[in-house]
Order: sequence, then C-alpha cells, then structure tokens
Amino acid sequence: MCGIIGYCGHRPAVPLVIEGLRRLEYRGYDSAGVSFVQNGELSVIRAEGKLGNLEKKLESRNVFSATSAMGHTRWATHGAPVEKNAHPHLDHTGKLAIIHNGIIENYQAIKAELSAKGIAFRSDTDSEVLVNLIAECLKDTGGDVTLAISAALSRVEGTYAIVVMSLDHPGTLWATRVASPLVMGVGTGENFFGSDIPAFLPYTRDVVFLEDGELVKITATSWEVMDTATLAPIEKTVAHINWDVQAAEKGGYKHFMLKEIFEQPKVIRDCLLGRIDAATGQVRLPELDDMPAPERLHIVACGTSYHAGLWGMYLLEKYAKIPVQVEIASEFRYRDPILPKNGVVLAISQSGETMDTMAGIKLAKSRGLPVIGLCNVVGSSISREADHVVYSQAGPEISVASTKAMCSQLAALLLLTLYWGRRNGAMTEAACADMVRELTSLPALLENALPGLRTSAQHLARRYAEATSFLFLGRGPCYPLALEGALKLKEISYIHAEGYAAGEMKHGPIALIDPRFPTFAIALDDEFFPKVKSNLVEVQARAGEIIALTNEGLDLDVEHPWTLPRANGPLAAFVTLPALQLFAYEMADYLGKDVDQPRNLAKSVTVE
Ligand code: M6R
Repeated sequence: MCGIIGYCGHRPAVPLVIEGLRRLEYRGYDSAGVSFVQNGELSVIRAEGKLGNLEKKLESRNVFSATSAMGHTRWATHGAPVEKNAHPHLDHTGKLAIIHNGIIENYQAIKAELSAKGIAFRSDTDSEVLVNLIAECLKDTGGDVTLAISAALSRVEGTYAIVVMSLDHPGTLWATRVASPLVMGVGTGENFFGSDIPAFLPYTRDVVFLEDGELVKITATSWEVMDTATLAPIEKTVAHINWDVQAAEKGGYKHFMLKEIFEQPKVIRDCLLGRIDAATGQVRLPELDDMPAPERLHIVACGTSYHAGLWGMYLLEKYAKIPVQVEIASEFRYRDPILPKNGVVLAISQSGETMDTMAGIKLAKSRGLPVIGLCNVVGSSISREADHVVYSQAGPEISVASTKAMCSQLAALLLLTLYWGRRNGAMTEAACADMVRELTSLPALLENALPGLRTSAQHLARRYAEATSFLFLGRGPCYPLALEGALKLKEISYIHAEGYAAGEMKHGPIALIDPRFPTFAIALDDEFFPKVKSNLVEVQARAGEIIALTNEGLDLDVEHPWTLPRANGPLAAFVTLPALQLFAYEMADYLGKDVDQPRNLAKSVTVE
C-alpha cells in the first residue's frame, strides 16, 4: 500500500508531484521520494518519515524546470523504513528509475542472478531488483524501454504497480500493474499516473482505469495502452468522475472504516503473497525457519489483536497441537507469569507501537523467551524489539476501529498453524494443502458476499437503533468473534455491548435479558451449533429478541436469522467478522457518530 504519482506535462512537475503525494499520504507514510530529469541529469531525492522531511530536502534545490516527474510515498513491505529503501530506486547505471507498489515474490532469485553479473544493490528492496532487471533487458532491446519492461515483467512473479522513468527519454513515463491499483489521468497537454484518483484530481477528472497486464506509455500530449506481454494495442475508454478529493481518498466509500471492511478480500490475498508453495500447497514462512515449532505458546496482545490471538488459540491447539495461553498485555506485564523455558511469546499488534504489548515483550525477553512479533506496520517498535517478525501485510489502516487488520491477523494465525502443524508433524501434507486451497478461494467468496452483508447490516441497524445494550454470544472459535462484535459496536456507536461465551451466559448475564435487551448470536453450522441453539432457547424463554449469524439449512427459529455463505471450519471466521463489523458500522453511521475517529480513542495506544 504505497502512494504513486507520475506526471508528464507543461507545469513545474516536482511541486505538482509533491502536492499529489500529500493527497496520497493516507496510503503510507514511512518515507517518500521524487525523481525527475533536469539539465540532462536523472535526479532522485528521498527522505525517511513523513512527506514534510522530503519537502525540507527540496527547499534548497532548484527543481522548477522539470516538466515530468514521479513520486512515491511508502508503506514498507520489504526492508526497514529508512532512506535507502525509499522510492524511487535507480538502476546501477543511474539511467532508469522506478517507483513500485506491491511485492515481487521471486526477487531473491533474480537478485542472485543479477549479483552474479556484478550488479551491486544499495537497498533491501524488491523494487531495486526490478529496475535492474529492466536495465538488463534494455541491453537486448536496443534501448527500447517499452520492450525492456515487457521482457523483464515476463520473468516476474507477484503483484505490482510500477512507473518507470528514463534519462534517455525525459518527457515519457511508462506504467503497468498486476493486482495493485493504478489509474491514469488524462488532461490537456498533460497526463498523469496515480495509485489513486486523488493524486491528480485537482487537474483532471478524466480517468482511464487500468487492468492487470496493461502497459501504458505517456507523454504530455499522448497516451497509449498495450498488452504488457504482447504489446498489442488496447482500446480504453475515458471515464469522467465527479468525486471530491475527500471522497476519492476513501475510494468513493463514505468512511475509511467501510473501505477497509471491503478491502478484506484483498487483505487475505496479500497476507498469502509469497507464503504458499504453488506446487505443494504448503505454507512458507522463511522468517521462522531458523526456530522449531514452539512447544508452548504465549500470545500477548490488546483489544482487537487480543481477540485475534484468542481465535488463534483454538486453531493452534486443534490443528498444530500446540498448548496456547492468550494474555491481555496490560495484565500479563504486571503478573509474575510462569514462563517455562520451552515457551515462545507471540506478540500481536497492528500498529506495532502498543505500549502494554511492548512491555509484555520486554518481560518475556527478560525471562529468556524468544519473541515473535505479528505486526502490520513494518519497522514499528514491536517489530524491532521482537526476535522474529511475521508481517500481516494488511496495508495502512486509517480508521481507528480496527477491521482489515484483524482479518489479516486471522489469516496470518492460520498460516502459522499450518506451518507449525507441518513442522511438528501434527498435520499431514494433504490436510495442510486442503486448508490452503480453501483459504485461497476465500477472497472470491468474500467479495461476492460483502454487498449483501452490508444490506442486511443496514436493515438490522435501523431496526435496533434504539437499543441501549447488546449481548454478543458465541462458542468455540466464535467466542472471540463475539467479543470483537461487542467491541466494534461499543467503540464506534457508543452502545453498550458485552461479548460472552454462550455457555457462560446462564451463570449471570441471563438476568439482563428482557424484550428490550437484544442478543446477537453466532450460531454457525459447526460442532457447537446444538449447544448455541439451546443457549438461545434460554434467551427466548425470557422474551429476548435474537439476531443470529447462521447458515442455510440449520434448524434455528429466531427473530432475525442472518444467513452467511458457508466457509469450512475455521474459515467461517472470515465471513462472520465482516458481518459483525458492518453491523457496528451501519449502526454508528445511522446514529450519526464519528465513525473513523470515535471519541476518546487513538489509533495507536502508546501510553499506559
Ligand atoms: O495496534 P494494536 O493492534 O496493538 O492495537 C491494539 C488495540 O489498541 C486496538 O485493537 C484497539 O482495541 C482498536 N480500537 C480496536 O478497534
């Protein structure tokens, strides 16, 4: 998730690109850079941290005569968020520059091949490998950049949106994409590339939406789209959009939270990227290869990440046969926990900055336990403090209420289960491959389901907008999801909600049930269904109304059955979670709450 902008036109290109990056900063913000050709030189200027640092660097330079430029604001996926890893990247001859959003999965093999030819690399990125590969191909194409890009990409596996600039062709830019966003803006005497429309929205509303495998060449006055592999021309239509800048940043969604909920199919795909062996269907997590599967695991986290950890416990115990204890970090850090020497700590954090989780890591390290961080933000404090890091690869999450990050944590926990289950012999190769197959088909299932889930959530939110309290119930791996459903509802709609293990309800909370106190149950087609059903009968006996997430064909008689598409075993969580998120979202939106920035909350909790 990086921000990309490219410009060929008649205006001073560098200030225009910087201004475009400012509108894309929500996509990533750990470093930024620009490149342009001026006075016969291809310049690259980059800075670590927010865009302001890059602007400071540019203050002392005269960059006003270039009329083509490209810029990038980075959300790190490979390599720490430091200047040498910031984009653009130059090839070793200094004649080609690239900006890149995505992940080149086979970059290590290509890097080894190029290194053997004597090419030295200055960064840890896959992007620098790609620009050098294009430069190598240029040798065989007589300097034809279009041909060289096509040849290089025929060797690349992964996802990307790239823009390429060449010293030898100053007024031209090339761009192409596979599974990473890229759009072209068509102006008068100027053309643009952007990872998102806001990049160029003040200059043109005429947009060409690019598809996977399309390669585009622009100058100030021309643009041509072709097939990346064959270079055959492709006819494209220009669409006119009428979004304002704010709506465009949210991709047309009303709130970032809604956008992020709808990004979950992509989040699952991204989390799997580079981690599945296509031939065998087995999970690859090279970042953990140098340690054995844990004999005991202590998961430490807060909030939504804690709920993800609890869900992971059910999986890790059932499939990988690893004993797991899940700890609320703020409790763990002040206990005197017994941490056996054969234990491993897994700290889960979206931001990688949560102070209590960090304190939990320090405690574990002081007792000599190895720590694995499961983080989203590359280079965050927790990812640096941990001995090993697995990134959840969800991209920047802007909404304070965490949604897609939890989806990515569940996907990563499932991968960890399969990876360790194979390594300690608890799972067979075939069982692992079956689960992987189902996991890879999940994004498509979810993509189809999301619009319908939203409609149901809208309907139910209106029906229950006057409720002042909700009880969320689930059993087994649906219990942590019930906790999460309650957390989402209270944090953005300010309606009181409690998540409970359905079987525990009769030990107290049942006293609350009356016709004005609705219950939100998770009653899916799994081994817990008969038990959950009898818990719900107990609610009905007290005249309580029930909304139940369920599956077709189940014998369940409640006021509001909400039927979800079927997903097998643990994968049902990936469909259940967005339904819970959408219910909270629609309720908060209907009640007019500040969905993306709820009162009293912060995105990263760096205080006690
Ligand atoms: O960044 P982390 O995952 O460590 O954050 C943990 C919690 O602060 C976070 O999940 C919080 O509960 C969110 N508001 C949930 O939506």
